[in-house]
Amino acid sequence: MDRWTRCISRSLIAGAVSITMLTGYAGAQGRALRVTSPDGRNAVLVEIREGNLAYSIQRQGRPILLPSRLGMEFRAQTPLRDSLIITGSTRRTVDQTWTQPWGEVARVRDHHNELRVSVAERRAPLRRFDVVFRAFNDGVGFRYEFPEQAALRDFVIMEELTEFSLADNARSWWIPSDRSRLDRSEMLYSSSPVSVMDSVQTPLTMETLDSRTFIVLHEANLVDYARMNIKGPYMDNRTLRVALAPHKNGEKVYGRTPFVTPWRTLQLADRAEDLAPSVLGLNLNPPNVLGDVSWIKPMKYVGIWWGMHINTMTWSSGPKHGATTANTKRYIDFAAANGLGGVLVEGWNVGWDGDWIKNANAFSFTKPYPDYDLTGLAAYAKQKGVSLIAHNETSGGTVNYERQIDSAFALYQRLGINAIKSGYVTDTTPEGHSHHSQFMVRHYRKVIEKAAQHRIMLDVHEPIHDTGERRTYPNMMTREGARGQEYNAWSGEGGNPPEHETILFFTRMLAGPMDFTPGVFDILIERGTGRPRRPDESRIRTTLAKQLALYIVLYSPLQMAADLPENYEKKPAFQFIRDVAVDWEESRVLEGKIGDYVVVARKERNGPEWFIGAITDEEGRTFSVPLSFLPRGRSYVAEVYADGPGAHWLTNPLPVAISKRTVTAGSTLRVVLAPGGGQAIRIRPAR
Ligand code: NOJ
Repeated sequence: MDRWTRCISRSLIAGAVSITMLTGYAGAQGRALRVTSPDGRNAVLVEIREGNLAYSIQRQGRPILLPSRLGMEFRAQTPLRDSLIITGSTRRTVDQTWTQPWGEVARVRDHHNELRVSVAERRAPLRRFDVVFRAFNDGVGFRYEFPEQAALRDFVIMEELTEFSLADNARSWWIPSDRSRLDRSEMLYSSSPVSVMDSVQTPLTMETLDSRTFIVLHEANLVDYARMNIKGPYMDNRTLRVALAPHKNGEKVYGRTPFVTPWRTLQLADRAEDLAPSVLGLNLNPPNVLGDVSWIKPMKYVGIWWGMHINTMTWSSGPKHGATTANTKRYIDFAAANGLGGVLVEGWNVGWDGDWIKNANAFSFTKPYPDYDLTGLAAYAKQKGVSLIAHNETSGGTVNYERQIDSAFALYQRLGINAIKSGYVTDTTPEGHSHHSQFMVRHYRKVIEKAAQHRIMLDVHEPIHDTGERRTYPNMMTREGARGQEYNAWSGEGGNPPEHETILFFTRMLAGPMDFTPGVFDILIERGTGRPRRPDESRIRTTLAKQLALYIVLYSPLQMAADLPENYEKKPAFQFIRDVAVDWEESRVLEGKIGDYVVVARKERNGPEWFIGAITDEEGRTFSVPLSFLPRGRSYVAEVYADGPGAHWLTNPLPVAISKRTVTAGSTLRVVLAPGGGQAIRIRPAR
């Protein structure tokens, strides 16, 4: 296969079931080419307007995007945007269903109509490219493809000139992408009309003013390019623009034709509830390239972790060192006794002493501290049927990490360590690149590939945002990439407000799984502080029942029981964490309002049980939840973990009322949530 064919086929090897192809020449400039989704509701129109290539998007005949320009700015060349003609177009239809090895849903339908538009410059240097549009019932994706050509060989992209001209001054939920602040994704969300929005990260979720359409702007299949951020509009207009994360010198992407960009995606839905689970991005990624993935297993895990965040342990050596042989054995025993699949160990490897954020090059990924018996513990974990999760904090030192990666991953594989949690705590890499630059995108991809070679699953903190890599590399399990539970531990950070997770669900989580680390029972962090933390201090800002509900609401195939094992002792509510599934056949959002509440039902994979998670912001709420999704004619037991009497996230977060009742498909549950509260329900067949 030549490079161009290989490039194109990366996304086409899907083995389409029904493909129809039409080739046509859109010679008549001024007449728009049009492609609609299979249900006819989403339409993309593509045309030349005054020499510019523009696309617009409509839903049910109503404009979502007004004509928005496409183009590219290369170093030392005139912008590829201003004197374009359409030279041809082809169409095809794909309808196929594929199975995920693990996920929020087992089966995914990829049904779309594709329009490929070929474009050329009218004037020298006569560069040419295609833009491929795919219209799905749940949204639209498009990308640029540059064939090999004399006028464009090796190139440097200075900026991608893609625009998104919103038809409506929609309400948006966003986190900033401004590099003068943290070059990470761990901020609280803001909400504003798009016309006054900052420069932001994606997924960017918007709701039109009439609430008739929800729009999520994101990208898919980011392989060798810079991450896409979104530049806010100028002066109260509503045109958003792509802003690519830069290399150290400000340049964005180095490439050589033939070349394809990532997909730009607009997920579209009538209701917030229809946004999740989101599969648009998965459908725009190539299928699994790993073949047999039976070694990849979703699991729950505990970790030598929370103790560092609440100061009862240290990563570094010394009297409070957490990763000791004895302590790790205790965690392994706890996991084995409670059916939790894994144990994460942070601080096991040399490099933590001193300022570990600054000393990236001090980290060894093979050398344990003397009080950590790496080989013995790996054998002990294996004997207990528990997976050890090795921690690889790099502090952004990718060069140091890559230097050791082969020997480290080979060692882990030899020891039977089949999962890694990696970390990139830094604002820019030691080489000075943006955390989200092409430099880092290449690194993150390399780690996925190396890990796959050694049969290792990945959980990445401070990651590049999720663009659906898990379809191609199912060992890329989960990542952070948002403000997780840990912010509730740190003094000075103010914690996460009660609405936080109800926004995450409709924003960050639409990209993919998140290692949020739910399940802290010591809500007031008494064990760390020696007294209950005050309301004005960092502490968990949920009720305990809401911590349980997060296992259902915030999807992750590696799902942590984040608290110290001793905090679960003699706690009846811990039974829910033991019982809850981590892999799903089906997921349904029953109720949802961005920033206010979410109620989700999920059916476990390979089993008959259903789980429901309901969470609310600082307001108490009551929902009626019909169980009509259950199979008829069978009776079930609902095990309910509800906010107990008087529960309130601020004043009384601990009461959990555990009850059981027999239910059928005809039953309706009354789900009462305390302010800042939640409810978790396991529904299992009656014996
Ligand atoms: C930040 C991560 O999110 C956290 O989970 C980890 O413990 C620390 N970095 C140290 O690597």
